[in-house]
Amino acid sequence: MTLIKSLFSDGQELINKEVSLFGWARSVRRSKNVAFLALNDGSTQGTIQVVCDENLANFEEVSGKLAGTCFSVDGVVVKSMGKGQSIEIQAKKVVVEGDVSSEGYPLQKKATSLEFLREIPHLRARTNTFGAVFRLRHSISFATHQFFHQENFYYMNTPIVTASDCEGAGELFRVTTLDLDKLADGEKKKVDYNFDFYKKPAYLTVSGQLNAEAMAMGLGRVYTFGPTFRAENSHTSRHLSEFWMVEPEAAGFDLNDNMDLAENYLKYLINFILKENPEELAFLAQHYQKDLVESLEKVRSSNFVRLTYTEAISILEEAMKNKKVKFEYKVAYGTDLQSEHERYLTDVHFKGPVFVTDYPKSFKAFYMKLNDDNETVRAMDLLIPGIGELIGGSQREDNEEKLLARMKDAHLDPETYDWYLQLRRFGSIKHSGFGMGLERMIMYVTGMSNIRDVIAFPRFPGSAEF
Ligand code: 4AD
Ligand code: MG
Repeated sequence: MTLIKSLFSDGQELINKEVSLFGWARSVRRSKNVAFLALNDGSTQGTIQVVCDENLANFEEVSGKLAGTCFSVDGVVVKSMGKGQSIEIQAKKVVVEGDVSSEGYPLQKKATSLEFLREIPHLRARTNTFGAVFRLRHSISFATHQFFHQENFYYMNTPIVTASDCEGAGELFRVTTLDLDKLADGEKKKVDYNFDFYKKPAYLTVSGQLNAEAMAMGLGRVYTFGPTFRAENSHTSRHLSEFWMVEPEAAGFDLNDNMDLAENYLKYLINFILKENPEELAFLAQHYQKDLVESLEKVRSSNFVRLTYTEAISILEEAMKNKKVKFEYKVAYGTDLQSEHERYLTDVHFKGPVFVTDYPKSFKAFYMKLNDDNETVRAMDLLIPGIGELIGGSQREDNEEKLLARMKDAHLDPETYDWYLQLRRFGSIKHSGFGMGLERMIMYVTGMSNIRDVIAFPRFPGSAEF
């Protein structure tokens, strides 16, 4: 079988040669004695035109099929006389592999909304939109490994089942083999974990960071890239309960090194897809975000703004004072930035990606390094236009006493985290890292506005279908 992608790249050399291929028909057009199949096999954005003339044994059958039918074809590659393509296939033999004319095929309508397709994720991979999105998702993942390899980071796999709450936010899914039906007998009983699989409370990880830190304290530069889980009851277009996170961690890095790494990484990803996926990007630009390619090109050659949380608050207060904008949520020093505030910074004020650093410790995770002011931490969030927070990271607290104090403030049990404290006690060095939400990045580069449209089978509150 020849992939349609290879037909397009090697087309001129293949002229007059015989090939075998398959594909799903995007359209079947018939005139009197000739039929045209536009086939796509998922390998690329475009379709190859297959010309069937009436000498074909099953011409009547083939030319009567609907869009969505899967065909396999033996034929000869020829120069195309038609507009919009340089080659086409003159069919010698066509087999109807999978028919769709039986009742109930939901993709027969011409235009299908994203909302409608969200109800049938098991079928949406065969649409042009989702083909483009998932090929881009592949490219971003692949380029991630290339980038970190080139920067001398080693790929680690941190555990998915864990006893610790990395973010200290209590948004954990429990992992247990206990019979919950038996526990729920109405009486207030204490769970005896001796009967549970791990003999202690266990959860799905919210982040691989703590384990990555341990690995970085021996391998120097590492990254983990895996699924993470948050039992956060958020019904927004930017939250999933199962999402993928890329988390580098580097010994010897301070916060500025960390931001440099994040900025270079993002630009590398953008460069990669601009080179590798021009057809996908052109398609998505045409249908979802007109300026997609220009805005990616602009970001790749811009310097990302870096400012402190305190400066960000001043900008927002100033904008409100001058009646440039009205916010639903109050802007006040000491409270976290809401997404409307983040959007103002990226979309209106700076018109590009922005690093916000040095947030108050009160709403940031326990592991972030305390500044000398005892009030703010060496944190950085990267905010990007249209999305908001894409990356969260920090320099890590490397002083054991300070770390212990922050853990107590966050009501974390020091015993559970003793191994993490030991990393400070034994042969420690300053280190930093960050986490990038893969799906948020895919949203950014595809122009998709709902996170449920950039992961194959989204999980969110109330939904673990498929
Ligand atoms: O800011 P977060 O919570 O940071 C951490 O988990 C750190 N431990 C990372 C580190 O330093 N190694 O999450 C990091 C990123 C966010 O910026 C966002 O892009 C994404 O993960 N994210 C989500 N994406 C989809 N759905 C959710 N519910 C998400 N929560 C976070
Ligand atoms: Mg965050």
